[in-house]
Amino acid sequence: MNSSANIGILTVSDRASRGEYEDKGGPAIRDYLERVLASSWVAKAVVVSDDQHTIEASLRNLVDVEDCCLVITTGGTGPAARDVTPEATEAVCEKLMPGFGELMRKVSLEKVATAILSRQTAGIRAGCLIVNLPGQPKAIAECLDAVFPAIPYCIDLIGGPYLETNEDQIVAFRPVKK
Ligand code: MTE
Repeated sequence: MNSSANIGILTVSDRASRGEYEDKGGPAIRDYLERVLASSWVAKAVVVSDDQHTIEASLRNLVDVEDCCLVITTGGTGPAARDVTPEATEAVCEKLMPGFGELMRKVSLEKVATAILSRQTAGIRAGCLIVNLPGQPKAIAECLDAVFPAIPYCIDLIGGPYLETNEDQIVAFRPVKK
């Protein structure tokens, strides 16, 4: 039996999917999770083009077939015509979690004025939390540092595996049971 948590890492980029551009976002998310997670996990990394149907199909596969409890996407959150990751996320989720996008934009705005251009969101599909990040590799830690403390408890609440963090990196927030 596999007791590791499966975590999807979805890079959304036309150029990276065609091999014209090295995927830097996906590996940056993997490095972040390796640093922060103490419990055992397995990465399911995929690179797709900025096509809404392709993004939706990939998200469905990561959740329904690959059994991911968390999927982190990078790219496709901006205002350009081909930026449709939030639309694909909303289409496959049963519930939206707008607080994730709100908090990530708030902390990002303290670093870069163009943070307002990201429409990044999050949502729940079955027992999986899907979180969008911008495509800039440096945005990954900037955004995840803000929301990661809430992710393990969110996954508890949707029936997923118990994720533990390295507390010198991120302290997971779980309310004390009375
Ligand atoms: N957020 C953080 N934390 N750091 C960044 O550098 N870049 C912004 C924004 N959010 C950025 C950020 C920029 S320049 C854009 S265009 C939008 O995210 C959307 O990026 P995407 O289309 O690659 O997802």
